[in-house]
Amino acid sequence: MSNAQYCGPGDALTRTFDEWDITTGVGLTALAVAAARAIETDQGGGLVRDDYARVLVEAAAPPIPLPTRAADIGTDPGDRVWPTMTDYMALRSRVFDDFFIEAGADGIRQVVILAAGLDARAFRLAWPPGTTVYEIDRPTVLEFKQRTLDAHGAVPACERRSVPTDLRDDWATALRAAGFDPARPTAWLAEGLLPYLPARAEEDLFATVHALSAPGSRMAVEALTEGLADTVREHPLMRESGERLGVDIGTLWNDEPRRDCATWLRSVGWSVQVESTTEAAHRHGRPLDGDIADAFGAGRLVTAQAG
Ligand SMILES: C[S@@+](CC[C@H](N)C(=O)[O-])C[C@H]1O[C@@H](n2cnc3c(N)ncnc32)[C@H](O)[C@@H]1O
Repeated sequence: MSNAQYCGPGDALTRTFDEWDITTGVGLTALAVAAARAIETDQGGGLVRDDYARVLVEAAAPPIPLPTRAADIGTDPGDRVWPTMTDYMALRSRVFDDFFIEAGADGIRQVVILAAGLDARAFRLAWPPGTTVYEIDRPTVLEFKQRTLDAHGAVPACERRSVPTDLRDDWATALRAAGFDPARPTAWLAEGLLPYLPARAEEDLFATVHALSAPGSRMAVEALTEGLADTVREHPLMRESGERLGVDIGTLWNDEPRRDCATWLRSVGWSVQVESTTEAAHRHGRPLDGDIADAFGAGRLVTAQAG
């Protein structure tokens, strides 16, 4: 059973039960992903370099400490979750880093990261001059990130604007209020987000992205295949990661059936490319190993261009 629930804008009563901060619930997943990027950075695996990830994880001090260096990973069988999680998260980070670098090279100067979490791309990528990066996430997550990176003296490599809001609400109004211009082509990213959204909120999200996308806009999405959510949820690796993180990620996922985002984007005129996680891992010369291949190999990394 999922504990996420769709409620329309303003329906605060049904919303209070699933609030989270950076060390609880869905917020903790942002920390776990950052821990994986920190480990990849430390081990020099070459897929992603994120020097802010360790700073953010250590500042959060979650109830169960998370590793940030390869040497922090123990020999207990349950610790096998970290190398596999690192492989997967480093891969997806790299694929979406490349997406943004290409979008910038092709002249796109407006970027929206949906559910940015502790994503530090605004600080660590070489954005072309004139780029504005909007980061949307829950207020508690963005406040923690801002406070921590300010204390660290981090300086964004672009014009960075935080948009603290809930993606189940009217986030488009908050985005526009932050200065977003729908007349300019945009590069959008939904990474590590969709399983946490109710089906209707996911539909609304894609419809809103479409409505706000000038011709030439692009979108990158980490998408599950049908049935993959169940496979991942029931995989022993996920149960073990629950013990390691203090939260069973599968229980946070929303299991409502939903439409296929690639099919829908095509239906409204976007051209869409779909690469499986397995294919992307081969392309980067770092095939996923047994456990992670079972759990995530059929996941899809989708990129699309608005017509
Ligand atoms: C697994 S983390 C991924 C974070 C980031 N995209 C990354 O890959 O590092 C999931 C993120 O989704 C955010 N999130 C989930 N549901 C959300 C919602 N309804 N509104 C805003 N943010 C949400 C969480 O706060 C969290 O930061």
